[in-house]
Amino acid sequence: MIVLGIETSCDETGVAVVEDSTIRSNVITSQIDLHARFGGVVPEVASRAHVTMINPAMEQALQQANVGQGDLDAVAVTTGPGLMGCLLVGVAAAKAMAGALNVPLVGVNHLEGHIESAFLQEPDLEPPVIALIVSGGHTMIALMPEHGRFEILGQTIDDAAGEAFDKIARFIGLGFPGGPEIDRLARDGDPAAYRFPRALLNEPNYDFSLSGLKTAVIRWVREREATGEGFDAADLAASFQEAIVDVQVAKTVRAARDSGVDALIIAGGVAANSRLRDRMHAAGEEAGLRVVTPSLALCTDNGAMIAAAGMRKLARGEATPLDVGADPSMSLV
Ligand code: KG4
Ligand code: ZN
Repeated sequence: MIVLGIETSCDETGVAVVEDSTIRSNVITSQIDLHARFGGVVPEVASRAHVTMINPAMEQALQQANVGQGDLDAVAVTTGPGLMGCLLVGVAAAKAMAGALNVPLVGVNHLEGHIESAFLQEPDLEPPVIALIVSGGHTMIALMPEHGRFEILGQTIDDAAGEAFDKIARFIGLGFPGGPEIDRLARDGDPAAYRFPRALLNEPNYDFSLSGLKTAVIRWVREREATGEGFDAADLAASFQEAIVDVQVAKTVRAARDSGVDALIIAGGVAANSRLRDRMHAAGEEAGLRVVTPSLALCTDNGAMIAAAGMRKLARGEATPLDVGADPSMSLV
């Protein structure tokens, strides 16, 4: 089965062609340069850019995959959660394509797409799995007993992890998006140099809280600057990152153990973080768990994960009517 996957929920125009579990193309047009001067994604700018990029990205994805429109068996598209104007661009394009070709349309939850990226990465992986979904908008631990079924075990009670990375990066003068910048800077730093709070680490739940960490780091930096003591930026990046990673690793491994599953996956933009990937592999493997970390191109928003999730849904007979809309606050369950 050959599926075209379209993802426009935030600031990446992603279009991919996936055939069964093989990625034939995965075109990602990033808008980072457009948003960088604002220090964050501007929704109106993002939807306009999607309008400009969507048709060329679709053409490029088909061309790179060496697939004609007539070879497509279905069109999958993110219908939520995300930015309304952005989602609508992808949904309109997908409807037009599916309608014109007379093939099924399938609407996909963005978070389910992120989770499916792990199964695209390692096709022999099978549920049940525990998934840590960490992105600019979400930080949650979910149990997936089978494809398409989810139980949210815990989530952030305030900021998302990506949001915390982006805010602290901006505060210390790094570029946007901040996650990759902090990751890079932290490689030269000592994660034990400075001690920041690990909120909810020992609480008997799977929830996260990141706003206290953000405030603690900002206050600490201001104090160091006020006293003239200063700080090492790489050490700060590594110490801040470690506070986030410590809690995520401990809680995800505990969730896998408590649920009795043998595999855990990480997904979403923050799953590209090198320290999180290394620490999760080390801790998971020590606990006897299989740990799947999708490739970097599959962690950040992309069309391939949407095509893969769409294919699963079609296999379950879950095609979507052509009059579907977008749902900016769609939930996973
Ligand atoms: O999944 P994603 O591409 O978009 C959303 O659905 O939100 O995630 C984007 C987020 C941004 O906050 C970005 O800073 C973060 O993922 N991110 C990272 C890294 N790469 C991207 N955070 C930490 N380390 C990274 N290497
Ligand atoms: Zn995402």
